[in-house]
Amino acid sequence: MHKEIEDILKRAKREIEKAKDSKTLDALRVKFLGRKGEITLAFKKLSSLSEEERPQIGRLLNKAKKEIDSLLKEKGKSFSPSERSLYKDGLGWLKGVVDPSLPGRRKIIGKLHPITKVMGEICSVFQSMGFSIAQGPEVEEDFYNFEALNIPPNHPARDMQDTFYIDDKILLRTHTSPIQIRTMKAQKPPIRIIAPGKVYRCDSDVTHTPMFHQVEGLMVDKNVSFSQLKGTLTQFVHKIFDAQTKVRFRPSYFPFTEPSAEVDIQCVNCRGKGCRVCSYTGWLEVLGAGMVHPAVFRNVGYDPEEVTGFAFGLGVERIAMLKYSIDDIRLFYDNDIRFLDQF
Ligand code: FA5
Repeated sequence: MHKEIEDILKRAKREIEKAKDSKTLDALRVKFLGRKGEITLAFKKLSSLSEEERPQIGRLLNKAKKEIDSLLKEKGKSFSPSERSLYKDGLGWLKGVVDPSLPGRRKIIGKLHPITKVMGEICSVFQSMGFSIAQGPEVEEDFYNFEALNIPPNHPARDMQDTFYIDDKILLRTHTSPIQIRTMKAQKPPIRIIAPGKVYRCDSDVTHTPMFHQVEGLMVDKNVSFSQLKGTLTQFVHKIFDAQTKVRFRPSYFPFTEPSAEVDIQCVNCRGKGCRVCSYTGWLEVLGAGMVHPAVFRNVGYDPEEVTGFAFGLGVERIAMLKYSIDDIRLFYDNDIRFLDQF
């Protein structure tokens, strides 16, 4: 039987060496070591041998079995785990059709746009203060965008907002303030709303884009005061940034509020030292605000002797720039996935 065992071992070595995939290797394991494999059948012949031959041949067979087993294992290591699993999953036929050693393609998972995220945060801060959400159209009538807000035709304040006109009476809203008028015309005080949305102006540089987002705020009731406006906005800034963030109210002018203010936040990019984001002033203007002008109340049928109110309109992109230290507002709309992926 010496010769027979040597012959099995030789063939096993040759065939294992030639195997090109795990499937062939599996078949060879069955052929030599399986229940009806050549080595197993040779073991069965031991009983027919003489007492002297049996231990000697038994040892040889055990040695050959071990050797074939370790050759099979060694060869199996040269196949990639992905290939091994291809066969395990019954997909061996894909070998040659696909390259299982290539890294898999990752699924790209979508994310919220940074402006959508910041808009959501702003809304939830105001909602936690009792403001509800109002909405209005982006294609707006001149009446709501200007006239009812105390900006009659030819008023110089129209120059402050470079307007995209559709025709003489219809335009792309330049701010969210027309929603103040729509809300006050539709309901009686008390009112406490915010109005988030897109607005449009013919304007573009590092802090201006032709389309941007504002959140309007309006509170109307008896005895609403400027100090309530200051308190609300300061609390808002502290919740969106942190309690150390400095806020500055500057006297300003809007035809629909009196008195009016512009609110700046200390530039978080340079901590007030001066950089490109804040045009080297240390501050970034984020919103306009003021007490609702009596003429606006009269335009919507409210009695300015009975009610007072405050209003504000903040730029969402400016808040996002400060939050994420972004020095060019236009990056938000370049649609560069490497930029957007960071948020
Ligand atoms: C207004 O739009 C007023 N409607 C705000 C207001 C509402 C005042 C209610 C009083 C009462 P202003 O034009 O300043 O104001 O714009 C408000 C904010 O929008 C600015 O502080 C700035 O943060 C942002 N903003 C203005 N223009 C642009 C632009 N082109 N791109 C990005 N953000 C802008």
